[in-house]
Amino acid sequence: MGKSLTGKVAVITGAGRGIGRAIALAFAEAGADVAICARSSGALDEVKEQVEAKGQACLAQALDISGPEEVGRFCNDVIAQFGKVDILVNNAGAYQDRGAFVQSQPEEWWRTIEVNIRGPYLMTRHLISAMPEGAKIINMNSGKGYSAGQNSSSYHVSKAALKMFTEALANELWQQKIDVNTIIPGPTATTTLSQQDPNSGVTTENILDKFTNEPPAGLPAWERVKHPDEVAVLALQVASYPIGGPTGQVFSLARRPL
Ligand SMILES: NC(=O)c1ccc[n+]([C@@H]2O[C@H](COP(=O)([O-])OP(=O)(O)OC[C@H]3O[C@@H](n4cnc5c(N)ncnc54)[C@H](OP(=O)(O)O)[C@@H]3O)[C@@H](O)[C@H]2O)c1
Repeated sequence: MGKSLTGKVAVITGAGRGIGRAIALAFAEAGADVAICARSSGALDEVKEQVEAKGQACLAQALDISGPEEVGRFCNDVIAQFGKVDILVNNAGAYQDRGAFVQSQPEEWWRTIEVNIRGPYLMTRHLISAMPEGAKIINMNSGKGYSAGQNSSSYHVSKAALKMFTEALANELWQQKIDVNTIIPGPTATTTLSQQDPNSGVTTENILDKFTNEPPAGLPAWERVKHPDEVAVLALQVASYPIGGPTGQVFSLARRPL
């Protein structure tokens, strides 16, 4: 039997590490050619090598997803190389503003909004004309986009905007037979969760160990920190539905009501 994504082209943002990297590798394993981006070229080059080792083509470009010109250039290159985009995973996200609102820094607060909502907008806007019937858009959201906790107000606001972006697009793009869905990973072992420097050599296993007996702050004891590969399995499922599958839906791996 052929692989499930043979002949498909997938764009995954923020694929240098964490959840995006896991999705890029899972999609390549399933037979897709992939285009990936993030700011750090070193991390992207490693993922590109791993994708190519699976026998799939990979376009990797360093860029900031909030920059219209950079995103435009990347998307033009993707379309020139592959001719179409079957799956777009808007995964890259910023989560630097962690403190109380009264201590927030205006530049940092707004930057979160730019990365988390302008980024997906720009990427989707530039690629939409290259997306055929049956294409999928998957937006990586968070429980924090659905119910606000304390602190990190910019993250809550940006992810709530991404929720509405997903729903608004689903209500329009059904006409082109393009499905738009949300994935909520729940706490996942990446350096965004552990708040560590991604260049410090910390591994996924180190992060999983750190949270074995204590859930991340603010989450119930029955939450579980998962491996990024578990999120990739769900992304592959959502990307694989035939035409007429779910759209405007939320697929969550969280272990708490949203
Ligand atoms: N981990 C969790 O527990 C969790 C929970 C809920 C939701 N999420 C969501 O899942 C998504 C992925 O998170 P993650 O935990 O996998 O994070 P991560 O390990 O920190 O990876 C984020 C990726 O996005 C890239 N990126 C960040 N800012 C960017 C920008 N401005 N332009 C282009 N690329 C950028 C990063 O590379 P560079 O730094 O090199 O640019 C990296 O490749 C995010 O949308 C996040 O909000 C994560």
